[in-house]
Amino acid sequence: MKKAKVVEGKATFYIPDPQDYIKDGKFDPAWLPVFYNPRMKINRDISVELAKVISPKIVIDAFSASGVRGIRYALEAGVSHVIFNDVDKNAISLIEENIKLNSIQSFEIYNMDANALLNSKRGFFVDIDPFGSPSPFILSAVRSVGRRGVIGFTATDLSPLEGSSPRSCRRKYGAINNRKLSFSKEVGVRILLGRIASEASVEEKGIFPIMSFYYGHFFRVFIRVEEGATKADSSLENLGLVAECPKCGFHKFSNDSCDLRKCEICGSEMTVAGPLWLGSLYESEVLTSMNSEGEAGKLLNKIKQEISAPAFYYSLDKFSSMLNLPAVPSTKDIVECTSGFYTHFDPKGVKTNMDYSEVIKCMKNSIKN
Ligand SMILES: C[S@@+](CC[C@H](N)C(=O)[O-])C[C@H]1O[C@@H](n2cnc3c(N)ncnc32)[C@H](O)[C@@H]1O
Ligand SMILES: [Zn+2]
Repeated sequence: MKKAKVVEGKATFYIPDPQDYIKDGKFDPAWLPVFYNPRMKINRDISVELAKVISPKIVIDAFSASGVRGIRYALEAGVSHVIFNDVDKNAISLIEENIKLNSIQSFEIYNMDANALLNSKRGFFVDIDPFGSPSPFILSAVRSVGRRGVIGFTATDLSPLEGSSPRSCRRKYGAINNRKLSFSKEVGVRILLGRIASEASVEEKGIFPIMSFYYGHFFRVFIRVEEGATKADSSLENLGLVAECPKCGFHKFSNDSCDLRKCEICGSEMTVAGPLWLGSLYESEVLTSMNSEGEAGKLLNKIKQEISAPAFYYSLDKFSSMLNLPAVPSTKDIVECTSGFYTHFDPKGVKTNMDYSEVIKCMKNSIKN
């Protein structure tokens, strides 16, 4: 295998030479015999920043591929011991080479299925970065994490989580998600968290989201896990449903069994999704301590602005068309008028605690001016 040398963060490492895998002038990182996607740098940058703040002694990088993640945790976040793993043999030789190249001192390398590895090892930060859905690995990840440890999950299966593949969402996440709601990106993150909370409760563990986001083609959530049936019970109290009216754009969420089916504003049938996580997505102390440069820094700054914002948002372009408005108001106008918040989930998204009728007034006033 011909290799190319790449630099990312403080790591210098080998990947299979992308030039050798171009087909008809096109290239997809999935065609490499060992996976490396430069578009996931932002995922790794933010994960490294989080690791710096929580400073875990042992990290399990359960889906290592080239090893870049685990190597960066050691070099940039001062993690003292990294457990690397990949089911693919080609990945293992590359990991060995890359560990040498970066002079990583304390490590273990396994060539196992991630579930088998996670059921036999313990880490204080467990990184789950598979292809597609992390669902098949949630339970073992929860088992492998030490007391008050943290797990990071990546999900690249946007369509079930966002409501474009309802049956797949039912299978993978045990949730009803039949139509893409106008705030579908946040629905995706919350369905994933809801599933994690349910699976953790089986092990009598509770979850505390410390940082969750959407970017480009993936979701990433970080949760702290605490032990005990009481923690599990209180974490399950954060599960509920959200509903959006397809006619007037009103939305409502609830974690009691109240009926969300009829729209309070226009009486139409609402689209209901869930179960999903309705609690906070962030642990303020951790998030405010995280800083980065470039794209990751920009994204972190956006996320920080919404720490105390309510769940879900109005997506102004979709909302304006539901209301048959002749134009889309500026996000800035509506944020100001509703004492609201910008959201990283959607450049045209506004989160607000204001009543629906007040938001409508702001929308109408904004396009008049
Ligand atoms: C998305 S890539 C990981 C990328 C890597 N974490 C990074 O940041 O560059 C997924 C990796 O998981 C490996 N893999 C797939 N299924 C697995 C399983 N069941 N157990 C362990 N590794 C698996 C694949 O061989 C692939 O290298
Ligand atoms: Zn309605």
